[in-house]
Formats: sequence, C-alpha cells, structure tokens
Amino acid sequence: MVYSKIIGTGAYVPARIVKNDELSKIVETNDEWITSRTGIKERRISSGEKTYQMAAKAAKEAIENAGIEKEEIDMIVVATITPDFFMPSTANLVQAELGLKDIPSFDIVAGCTGFVYGLQIADQFIKSKQSKTILVIGVEVLSKVTNWFDRNTCVLFGDGAGAVILKSSNQEGIICTYTGSQGDLQELLTLPAVPLKNPFLHIPNNNGRPSNISMNGKEIFQFATRIMIKSISQVLNKSNLSISDIDYIIPHQANIRIIDYVARKLKIEREKSIINLDRFGNTSSASIPLALNEAHKEKTFCPGDRIIMVAFGGGLTWGAALLNWTI
Ligand code: UT7
Repeated sequence: MVYSKIIGTGAYVPARIVKNDELSKIVETNDEWITSRTGIKERRISSGEKTYQMAAKAAKEAIENAGIEKEEIDMIVVATITPDFFMPSTANLVQAELGLKDIPSFDIVAGCTGFVYGLQIADQFIKSKQSKTILVIGVEVLSKVTNWFDRNTCVLFGDGAGAVILKSSNQEGIICTYTGSQGDLQELLTLPAVPLKNPFLHIPNNNGRPSNISMNGKEIFQFATRIMIKSISQVLNKSNLSISDIDYIIPHQANIRIIDYVARKLKIEREKSIINLDRFGNTSSASIPLALNEAHKEKTFCPGDRIIMVAFGGGLTWGAALLNWTI
C-alpha cells in the first residue's frame, strides 16, 4: 500500500509586526476589544513582499527541512485567495523561483480551507501513484484585500506562508481527509474579483464591488463552530478512532473563542490545540501550515502522534485531515 507522509515543513512571515494599538490609530478599536473577542495581539503585514515570494521562501525552508533535492518535487499545489496574478498561477511563479521545470503546478481556491483541500489533492495524487513528492503551500497577502476602514474585519487578518513536502511512503502518514462546501452560503464571506467591463455593455454595470473582504462575522462564527465539530467527527469516524486517540489539533487560526468552543464541546484538553493566532492573526490558507511548522520546529510532535488539521472558510468551505506524525 502506498501512503503519503509529511517529511518537512517551512514558513515565511513578513518582518513588519502590527500590534493592536497601531490599528486603533486607523479605526475605532482597541487592544482590549480585539484581544478579548478574538485572541489576536499582533499580525505580520507585507512591506512589499509578494504572494509568490513569500510562498517560495516557505517552500525553500520546507525543502531544506525535508532534506531532499528540489528536483525530487514532481508537483506543486498552492492554496491562496490572494495571488499576484490570475495567470500565471502562484504555483507557476514558485516553480520558476525554485528553478524547477516541466512538472505540473497549479493553484486552488477554497478560502481558509485551501491548505486542507491542497493536502487532500496531493494525498490522492500520491496514493494513485501519479506523484511521489509534492510541495503543498498555503500563502496569503490578505493586507492587500483588507478593507482598512472596516473595523469588523481589518483587525482579524495577517500575511504569511507555510509549506510542507508530502512524500510517498509505505508508512502511513495521512490517514484520511474530508472536505465539503456549501455555495449557497457564499454571501457570508466574499472577496470579489474584477468586475465586468467591456465596450459592448449597453447597461450601466452595477456589479463592480470593491476587491475587499467582507464578512458576516456572527454567522461565520456559528457556522465555524458547527462545521469544525462535524469535520473532526468525520475524520474520526472514517478512521475508527475517537477523540482520545488524538494528540494534537491544528485548527484554522481565526478566533480563539471558536477554537475554545470546539475544544470544550469535543472535550479536547486545552494543551492539545496548537495556537499561534495571538502573534499572526488569521492568515487564511497559510494559518494551518504556519502553525504546523512552528510546532514542528519547536519539537512539539513525536513520531506516532496523531494530528487533526481542521479548517473552515469562504465558499463556504470546510475540511479536516487526520495524520500520523512520522518525522
Ligand atoms: O477565516 C474565516 C473568517 N472569519 C472568521 O472566522 C470570523 C468569525 N467571527 C468572529 O470571529 C467574530 O464574529 C468577530 C471577531 C468578527 C466579531 O466578534 P463578535 O463577538 O461577534 O462581535 P460583534 O460583531 O457582535 O460586535 C459586537 C460589538 C458591535 O458593537 P455594538 O453593535 O454592540 O455597539 C460592533 O460594532 O463590537 C463592535 N465591534 C468592534 N468594537 C471595537 C466590531 N468590531 C470591533 C472592533 N473594535 N474591531
């Protein structure tokens, strides 16, 4: 049986730290509100780093950490909602930065669930023996699509990139994955692309919404708690395991109150949740690989530990991945 396993991780965050107090100079907010309602104390903001540059830096660190030659990579999957271009894809740009040729490389869009979707796709390519070594990246420069006049959203987001190398193995790494989506809830969390504009339009175009994130925070909060519990239960059921068999949960880093609620409902001990949103905020597709990399570099995980990554996001989308730690 062929399995896929993570053999290396990497990350990159911009050096520029923006603390809550700095945001209170831009919108009517304060450190106390942001900390108590979200758990976020600071976030990293791009000082000019582009999405593909941050992705490539995270990728280089993951390649080094995995101890492989970059030429062993035979596919690149990038999850992002903030690419530098619609075309070429961020994955194409990363491929060029790494000096790799001929291999397939593509982006996927699944909101903040993007990294879990990417991992699921890569796992399937490896299990079907079409690929052996896949670079999976989650990267966002959310600061370029944040509405900096909207205090409901601008205090939440940050920029960053995280990457893993997934390799084929006879040892079981990824045990199972689960993803889902509900397009009819699209309006709850949106980031519009370019509006329709051409010389043949006979009617005024009213669809030109600004390219900013907008969100119904309360609805997303409720959805998130419900769907994270469902996603965790799905991967546990699929693998005949119970929550007591799990050593760590790496949740999407959106709000500490969402993470705590899910942990309470599922009776997960506090120390089992990997949390770094206090220092990075919500980095969408990058949040899980960033947290994973940090915990790995801090030697939090031991071989044989069972880990669940779980996310929700715009789309609406959701998903989870259950894996054995093998490094
Ligand atoms: O990756 C997925 C993306 N999104 C999420 O996961 C977000 C999920 N939702 C949330 O995390 C929370 O709903 C928020 C953090 C966005 C908001 O927290 P909340 O406890 O649901 O607050 P609220 O929206 O009910 O707002 C409470 C009050 C309101 O004032 P009034 O109407 O009670 O007078 C808001 O106007 O807090 C006000 N408020 C703020 N005050 C200070 C909203 N944002 C801020 C702010 N600073 N930044």
